Amino acid sequence: MQQRKTKMAATDFIIYSNEPTLSLNEIHLSDDNKDALSQLLREFEHFEVLQQYNLPIVNKVFLSGHTGCGKTTTAKAIAKALNKKIIILNLGNIVSSRLGETAKNITEVFKKATRENAVLLLDEFDSIGKLRDHDDKDSVEMKRLVNTIIQLIDELPANTLLIAATNHPTVIDTALLRRFQLKLKFYMPKNEELDAYYNWLLSKFPEAFRKVDRKYNISYAEAKDRTFSAVKGLIIAHEESKKQREPQANGGE
Ligand SMILES: Nc1ncnc2c1ncn2[C@@H]1O[C@H](COP(=O)(O)OP(=O)(O)O)[C@@H](O)[C@H]1O
Ligand SMILES: [Mg+2]
Repeated sequence: MQQRKTKMAATDFIIYSNEPTLSLNEIHLSDDNKDALSQLLREFEHFEVLQQYNLPIVNKVFLSGHTGCGKTTTAKAIAKALNKKIIILNLGNIVSSRLGETAKNITEVFKKATRENAVLLLDEFDSIGKLRDHDDKDSVEMKRLVNTIIQLIDELPANTLLIAATNHPTVIDTALLRRFQLKLKFYMPKNEELDAYYNWLLSKFPEAFRKVDRKYNISYAEAKDRTFSAVKGLIIAHEESKKQREPQANGGE
């Protein structure tokens, strides 16, 4: 059989996120981040009047910080608050597949986001700097790619919101970084922040299922996974003990 190499199109890399997501006020954010995001949303809501005064509107946002602390969720919540669709492009996937095609693919995705008046999230944004230390061919192509992205960012229409997210902000080209007017950091939660989060997560279950061990010095995502596993265990144990107490229908032998 002949093996045919299928070419990936830009749209093959896009994730449209239609699933329900948290609202901004449900995300546990630092006060600074809350203030900055509320300002961002208010500017976007009053876009036209601000433009009449020739005021620049923040439309490029950079989210960095520890994994599982809310970057992707925040980007989705911003889109939800603005009542816009979100197009998520994971640069980790698109860059590793075919470096030569990547610039073209990313250009198409930018166009699509503008056309559809969507929020564009470039996730794993650090992926476009990483290959630079590899062989010469890759490094030339990577530089070209970085330049293409800089150009796309510079030409982005003022009413299109671009969000970049990364766990590794230090590897990102400073020329790229400079383009983002708003930069927000996501830190690992402190004990009292995690306690508030545990309380919030557990408040959705009956009292009897809230007795779970709380671990600290972990991300929100890890805390959520641990809590849900523990609550599921308690619910299942409760169901099983109910069954054991019920009289058997067939009496047994
Ligand atoms: N600050 C937060 N507040 C509420 N939930 C959070 C927060 N951070 C993470 N989570 C939960 O953990 C999951 C993974 O978080 P995510 O936003 O994907 O993290 P990141 O993109 O920073 O790696 C989310 O779906 C959300 O339920
Ligand atoms: Mg993420």
